[in-house]
Amino acid sequence: MKKITIAIDGYSSCGKSTMAKDLARRIGYVYVDTGAMYRAVTLYALRNGLFAEDGSVLTEQLEKHMGNINITFQFNPETQKPDTYLNGELVEKEIRSLEVSNHVSPIAAVPFVRTAMVAQQQAMGQEGGIVMDGRDIGTTVFPQAELKIFVTASAEVRAQRRYDELVSKGMPEPYEDILKNVEERDYIDTHREVSPLRQADDALLLDNSHMTIPEQNEWVMARYLERASED
Ligand code: DC
Repeated sequence: MKKITIAIDGYSSCGKSTMAKDLARRIGYVYVDTGAMYRAVTLYALRNGLFAEDGSVLTEQLEKHMGNINITFQFNPETQKPDTYLNGELVEKEIRSLEVSNHVSPIAAVPFVRTAMVAQQQAMGQEGGIVMDGRDIGTTVFPQAELKIFVTASAEVRAQRRYDELVSKGMPEPYEDILKNVEERDYIDTHREVSPLRQADDALLLDNSHMTIPEQNEWVMARYLERASED
């Protein structure tokens, strides 16, 4: 079976990461959560006062800091998932907070942030054998990926999943606030100038609103087996 590149894009909280992680684990590929990278930059910016009061990014100052932001991943054998590190500090939990979620879209819209993250992502995927999830993987990071999947689900279903996830992590937030955040991020992610979220022409569409996690895992596994066995 040849080693391919798998790009999984889609809206926030649509279950992309769950699907991508499970697939990577089962087929022995490297998994990269690119949203975690934008989230880590956001955490850095929050900690260093790089947002104006209205929530916009102080881009000139952030640009000066970019050289000090080092994001790495380390596989955690306990959770069987990669953990995100910001300058050597484990930040996996902090980057999932609603505060980071509320600030990440403007950070992900800054062109020099995207250029830096995309370059790192392309370097990580040079050899193939990778499952990467995000918003622009099939369109910008790996336009040549052999398998591209675009995942979607209704905003209400996604907000409920995010709510359940935060409750399970002991960081509950009101459902209405989460739904508002999901809708706002959808808008910013699809309307930004650089690499807006869109389905690549050759991506397969998966609406998982009414699918269970095992069902979607089987669906993506079948697509992988088809593609990896093609000549
Ligand atoms: O997948 P996520 O919710 O953790 O992503 C966090 C934010 O980062 C989301 O609002 C969109 C942005 N993002 C992006 O612009 N490009 C990517 N490749 C991944 C995430």
